[in-house]
Amino acid sequence: MGEQRAKIITVGIQKGGCGKTTTSGILAYFLSQDKNKVLVVDMDSQGNVTDLLTQEDVEYFEEKTVLEAFKDGSVEEYIYQVNDYLHVVPADDYLATLAKLLYTEMNYKNQNLALKEILEPVIYDYDYIIIDTPPSLSEPMVNAVCASDYVIVLAESSKWAFTAVPRFLETVEYAQAHVNPDLKVLGLLRTMNDTRRADSKAFVDLMEEYWPDICFDVVIKRKASIGRISMEGLFNNKELSSALEQYKLFYKELKERV
Ligand SMILES: Nc1ncnc2c1ncn2[C@@H]1O[C@H](COP(=O)(O)OP(=O)(O)OP(=O)(O)O)[C@@H](O)[C@H]1O
Ligand SMILES: [Mg+2]
Repeated sequence: MGEQRAKIITVGIQKGGCGKTTTSGILAYFLSQDKNKVLVVDMDSQGNVTDLLTQEDVEYFEEKTVLEAFKDGSVEEYIYQVNDYLHVVPADDYLATLAKLLYTEMNYKNQNLALKEILEPVIYDYDYIIIDTPPSLSEPMVNAVCASDYVIVLAESSKWAFTAVPRFLETVEYAQAHVNPDLKVLGLLRTMNDTRRADSKAFVDLMEEYWPDICFDVVIKRKASIGRISMEGLFNNKELSSALEQYKLFYKELKERV
């Protein structure tokens, strides 16, 4: 057990398909390769980061997911070990029932702080806890933000991602004002930049103009090998170094900000 509390980082935006899962998986991978103990918590009922990191069929995790951890009051019994440094609390479709259960059967004093509470028993076991979130400002997302020390805002270079950012930042401000005053925005990562499209570049520039203080310098481009990480995974992936090229720059900037 370490002497320091894990740094908890949420990767979020309520717009779907901005690269949250890809980014949280890659970030956890980099941190674990650097010999940090990392726990990834899947707060999305799609279970994509579970799939990406464990390469197991979703059936494998039946009744062994973060939802059961909420019922139990601790994640301890629901940690899957990918290797010594990288662990995952998985999710499956049933996580969609979390909101209902939080307001009926479960007895958390504050429904927004339930995730924080169930992570507490393992907080000294890890250097980092990375939380992947669903594409909505629902209970799993709010719980992730309220449990975190840092959030990374993700936005693909498109209009609907651009318009989602201020509303996501409002959610962060709500958490800061009500339950989590130390929460910090680590940065806004612009993703899926399609260099052939002028409108894509326009949104990259617009985000820089609106949020100059938080934009990461690196902009992640649309690239087939990054997309194929969803199929090939991060281990035994022949094109991994090409896929991770741009993300290496992001990781470097991120380490300077944490
Ligand atoms: N830079 C990229 N270039 C090409 N494809 C990418 C890139 N980043 C992610 N993808 C692919 O785009 C899709 C969406 O990415 P991802 O699942 O990471 O986004 P998400 O924000 O987690 O989505 P959701 O909101 O559904 O959870 C996936 O199929 C992924 O493999
Ligand atoms: Mg996702």
